[in-house]
Amino acid sequence: MAKQSFFGEQRKRLLRAARVAMKNAYAPYSKFRVGAALLTTKGEVFSGCNVENASYGMTNCAERTAIFSAVAKSGPKIEIRAIAVVNDKGVPCSPCGACRQVIYEFGPHATVYFQGAEGTKQAAITDLLPEGFRLK
Ligand code: THU
Repeated sequence: MAKQSFFGEQRKRLLRAARVAMKNAYAPYSKFRVGAALLTTKGEVFSGCNVENASYGMTNCAERTAIFSAVAKSGPKIEIRAIAVVNDKGVPCSPCGACRQVIYEFGPHATVYFQGAEGTKQAAITDLLPEGFRLK
């Protein structure tokens, strides 16, 4: 498969999985449903949705739900190749700062797909989070 169509397929597959996960969002406070799906370097796909709480600060974003579920299922050595984020309002939504740091922890070379002003955007995590924190 040509490189371009391989990445096109990867992106489509992740966006589709993110949309499925979004349906399980628990967002009674913001009413903003978010889904995320990631692909590991081993070829596994994991997804997640946002899970809010009456104590707002306890909310878990879709991206972190997907990453934590990947670690829980596949172990601490996972590496994120790509991660896609979608929302039910179709509005621009890039990962928040906290999620960028968590994506970087498990995917320093990851590609991030997210909704921009004019459709899906693509960026390297290191462009979204320059100088990410590392404890080694
Ligand atoms: N949210 C995500 O799940 N991911 C993002 O990238 C941005 C924000 C969630 C958190 C909260 O449940 C809702 O969107 C509104 O902030």
